[in-house]
Amino acid sequence: MIDEWPGASTVGRFDPETGVQFVICLDSILNGPAAGGTRATHYADRASAIEDAQRLAGAMTLKMAVCGLPMGGGKSVISLPVPREQLTSREWERILAIHAENIEMLGGNYWTGPDVNTTSADMDVLAGKTRYVFGRSEAAGGVGSSAPTTALGVHSAMRATAAHLGWGTLDGRTVLIQGVGAVGADLASRVADDGARVIVADPSPARLAEAERRGYAVVSTSDVLTTPCDVFAPCALGGIIDSSVAATLPAHAVVGAANNPLADATASQVLADRGVVFAPDFVANAGGALHLVGREVLGWGAEEVDARAAGLGKIIKAAYDLADRERIPTDAAARFIAAGRSAVPA
Ligand code: NAI
Ligand code: PHE
Repeated sequence: MIDEWPGASTVGRFDPETGVQFVICLDSILNGPAAGGTRATHYADRASAIEDAQRLAGAMTLKMAVCGLPMGGGKSVISLPVPREQLTSREWERILAIHAENIEMLGGNYWTGPDVNTTSADMDVLAGKTRYVFGRSEAAGGVGSSAPTTALGVHSAMRATAAHLGWGTLDGRTVLIQGVGAVGADLASRVADDGARVIVADPSPARLAEAERRGYAVVSTSDVLTTPCDVFAPCALGGIIDSSVAATLPAHAVVGAANNPLADATASQVLADRGVVFAPDFVANAGGALHLVGREVLGWGAEEVDARAAGLGKIIKAAYDLADRERIPTDAAARFIAAGRSAVPA
């Protein structure tokens, strides 16, 4: 839990039957209802679950603002007593039913969507019990997975970073992708098409087998932060780069999809001091929000959404230029840009 968290509201509920702690955080509703995905995972304790939800909701506010989307930031965390794969389908359905009830009680101030360990199929289930759901499957009338658009945006951010570093393109560069799930796998094929050498790490044997079939190199998940590369792309979970990792990470740039990859307040300054370029995550990974909110709220077509996701590199470039000019870390620069596009203070 963050002391003196400045967000709008944190709602919690414990269900004794399933042993699940539910948390929904509304960081801001100044620009519109708070929106952000539902994350289902195990946390050490209730305070860690709340802190994660609060930090993730804050990132969503910035993401919506920087893209000019008419939503605030929110996030839900379903803190599971056991790993997701150990739940029976009956237990999971009961958990989703309670989550839907919690969302419905917020009366439209919070809209959810898919996030880590929740899918479009889960959104279809939630949508049976609450209206406030983005990202249902196409069969159920939604716009389906946001991962391809997210990968498109991260790719655009990576290309902008290559240009900023004076490389021109990613051709011949080494890109290390941590996590080749829905976004990471798509990103890998995009950067491979650009001529980059791709290295991946993932605990899933099936995902690694597929990566090897595509000709990517593989490193163990424990070697990710010590393997030299040109671009490190965190596409698994957040909180992986603290100040000590930032001081040693053998990369020239960090550009990925994971929300909140920086674990503490000084990591971005440490990276900047070493000349390691950090693409602010809430800009680089905003393609998913553009897909869900753009298509389902604003009525944009797929082409419009893709054009905007492909344009995220321009916002990244603006953040790099502002950071250079003002001698501030790139994520601070991106916060200023977000503040200039919304009612939310930096
Ligand atoms: P996913 O669940 O499909 O993929 C995550 C991958 O990371 C899996 O293959 C998993 O095995 C792997 N992984 C887990 N722990 C790992 C570790 N220690 N080292 C290496 N790999 C590990 O998730 P998805 O949709 O690809 O999202 C990836 C990240 O991007 C998440 O943090 C998510 O919040 C963020 N994100 C996703 C968006 C989307 O549209 N899907 C939008 C914005 C952010
Ligand atoms: N969870 C994704 C993200 O972090 C996608 C999402 C965007 C879900 C907006 C709901 C609302 O961006």
